[in-house]
Amino acid sequence: MKTWVIANQKGGVGKTTTAVSLAGLLAEQGKRVLLVDLDPHASATHYFDLEPDDIKYNLFNCFVDDNLTLHSVHRCITPAVSLNIDLISASMALATLDKSFGARQGMGLKLKNILSEIHQEYDYAIIDCPPLLGVLMINALAACEYLIVPVQTEFLAIKGLERMLKTIEMVYNKASVKPPTVVVPTMFDRRTRASIDSLRYLRRNFSENIWRSVIPIDTRFRDASQKHQTPSDFSANSSGVSAYRQLLKDMLKGTINRYEIRLEAV
Ligand SMILES: Nc1ncnc2c1ncn2[C@@H]1O[C@H](COP(=O)(O)OP(=O)(O)OP(=O)(O)O)[C@@H](O)[C@H]1O
Ligand SMILES: [Mg+2]
Repeated sequence: MKTWVIANQKGGVGKTTTAVSLAGLLAEQGKRVLLVDLDPHASATHYFDLEPDDIKYNLFNCFVDDNLTLHSVHRCITPAVSLNIDLISASMALATLDKSFGARQGMGLKLKNILSEIHQEYDYAIIDCPPLLGVLMINALAACEYLIVPVQTEFLAIKGLERMLKTIEMVYNKASVKPPTVVVPTMFDRRTRASIDSLRYLRRNFSENIWRSVIPIDTRFRDASQKHQTPSDFSANSSGVSAYRQLLKDMLKGTINRYEIRLEAV
């Protein structure tokens, strides 16, 4: 199983949309995907029309389980929320982990341990992070084999990105080797100066990690979430889904940063 983490401390930049889109596209290729909802607000759980309060066992139960077993992880999995996609749902209680476990030894490796119980059962684990740096994101970074950082193409989001990337450097300095990282410009609107200027800024300042293309603004993402379908199930050929398809291809082929959209052309 490969573990991909979608993270950014900034809210509303397209993390959950990226997680669900990539999960859907991998599933479409016949991969067995485990989506892990690490956000106490449970957006990925709600995405598939599930109510956290109605689910008896969720990720929180795994986090507080001192004797993790295959069985205790299995019971936290909601199977087949979509074709080839299982989900470990979130609950509000995850928000209490910072306080109760923040300083406890070994807590940063809990998610890695949870996933290692089931690593033979899936091809990919896709982890949707909450928009803040705390014990949950530290856990995600420790388990991460490919880090995907969506960033909205607008100025305030870019400021947040600088902070995010610095934090990541600090975390990996102490812990382990940094995984490959791709910064994905999202909600790009080629009609606006703000989008174009911020993409230019991103390419100039983060050239090493920035994806060569963009995820365009596309209202069908919202429609797909309302219908509780992955974007590719809802609208396989929309511009947004096509862009995520290209991102996935580039990630799998390692062709992340050969720029596709020429800024002079927009
Ligand atoms: N490319 C896009 N075009 C248009 N709308 C989008 C796009 N990406 C995401 N959205 C919409 O923007 C909103 C926020 O997206 P999303 O929930 O994915 O962000 P997030 O980073 O996970 O937010 P949070 O930090 O609150 O978890 C959602 O309503 C989503 O449907
Ligand atoms: Mg989210």
